[in-house]
Amino acid sequence: MTLYTQATQRLAVLDRRETGYQYALSDIPFDGAAAPGRFFADDFLRDVGVPTDVIAREDLREPLQWALAVAHCEAFQVQEELILWFDEVERARLGDSRSIRLLVEEEAKHALGFERFAQALKTRHPEWLAAYERGFAESRAVFGRKHDAAQFPSPSAYHHMFWLLVLHFEEYTVWVEQRLRGAGAQPAWVELHRLHRIEELQHLATDSVLLTALEVSRELRAAHARGLLATLAANFWHYVPVHPARVVLAAHFGVELKPTAPMTRLGFWREVCQSPVFKRTRELLAYLDPKEVPPAPAA
Ligand SMILES: [Fe+2]
Ligand SMILES: [Fe+2]
Repeated sequence: MTLYTQATQRLAVLDRRETGYQYALSDIPFDGAAAPGRFFADDFLRDVGVPTDVIAREDLREPLQWALAVAHCEAFQVQEELILWFDEVERARLGDSRSIRLLVEEEAKHALGFERFAQALKTRHPEWLAAYERGFAESRAVFGRKHDAAQFPSPSAYHHMFWLLVLHFEEYTVWVEQRLRGAGAQPAWVELHRLHRIEELQHLATDSVLLTALEVSRELRAAHARGLLATLAANFWHYVPVHPARVVLAAHFGVELKPTAPMTRLGFWREVCQSPVFKRTRELLAYLDPKEVPPAPAA
């Protein structure tokens, strides 16, 4: 039986949505994936903690950009496959909401799209691939971890923690797309993320209602928000997948890449605290005592 019994009216409204927003896998310009070009703007790299002297080095530009781009595709794919896995094992408790069905169908398509794009990108630099794969495997072990339902006090609590992580991840994917606009990035890369964002905005509306629809105490919502914050801060370069690039730069360029500051002192955290893109992550963090949420760092 479904656990989503609280916001039934809001879920019913979402369930009646039109699906004209959807795109097809064939809309993604995979042919352009291996074309030269940049994937991330310098200010994005600074915001996620890459040191400016590394960003400025001409010889490191391609390995850094390449590894970060492949890692984003594969990290998105892994997170989306986690949603497919969760749907498979928890189908009965998720219920038969059309919104959840649409979300799952769309994530299956996204996972395929990011996988294909990653494969095309990988052909650009076979010489760095082994180091990249080592780094990505380490990151995947952290952010791709499946929670154990038995560690939660109730099935609703388990579902709540799951959607909370999904919601933040989806806002992150929308943020990445936003930061590509006007950044002169490779056109196929920009289009891949532009299409993805359209469906993610629908998912965010769904996640948000699903989180409210679960019968979970305020205390538990706060504990999960605390958990989200601690998990992100402790594993920042795995969740924002810079770590594989770090392994490539160490193995092939003798550069030891270190973040310029802890997560809550980076531009990324300022964006989480202030950007409209992260408004739903902020709604989750609002369950905490304000003293528990580090303030946005100065610009
Ligand atoms: Fe997605
Ligand atoms: Fe999504």
